[in-house]
Amino acid sequence: LADLPEGYTCRPLQATDYALGHLDVLRVLTTVGEVSEAAWAERYAWMKNRNDEYFLLVVLDESGGRIVGTGALVVERKFIHNLGLVGHIEDIAVAKDQQGKKLGLRIIQALDHIAEQVGCYKSILDCSDANEGFYVKCGFKRAGLEMAHYY
Ligand code: ACO
Repeated sequence: LADLPEGYTCRPLQATDYALGHLDVLRVLTTVGEVSEAAWAERYAWMKNRNDEYFLLVVLDESGGRIVGTGALVVERKFIHNLGLVGHIEDIAVAKDQQGKKLGLRIIQALDHIAEQVGCYKSILDCSDANEGFYVKCGFKRAGLEMAHYY
């Protein structure tokens, strides 16, 4: 990815990324729980098998050798809109000590680019009011209202 600060790279999630702290980055977002490396690997393999549907990216800090950012695009297949595809942007997280360096912006731009390339007619996401400004800077606008039913 061209516009990352020097010393950072963005690439698809890899099978070895558990050891580089993939789940630790996600802990800035929400509860992750105690997920063993084997359980992580099983979920990773499931997603990898669906690599036209699940696109997971990470940002690496090469000097520290750890993952400092991550994000996902899930491509939903529809009947409506001529068998349209909708991108769902999910689980965006940047390590606390790395926020404010445009890493989040670059993750969104990369996921947006993938969504467009695979033929999505839009990408959507849910976020808190506190994050609205970030997504506006990424080119998103408020649309609709999220509802949830927790089980
Ligand atoms: N409100 C308003 N503006 C913001 C916010 C915010 N909460 N966060 C960043 N910005 C602005 C920045 O100032 C910057 O503006 P500029 O171009 O004028 O300088 C621009 O948005 C880009 O910011 P980045 O540096 O790319 O943001 P960062 O790398 O810190 O990532 C993120 C933002 C992902 C929200 C990060 O703070 C984070 O991981 N937070 C905790 C987890 C989280 O809330 N994730 C999003 C959940 S929603 C979802 O996953 C769909």
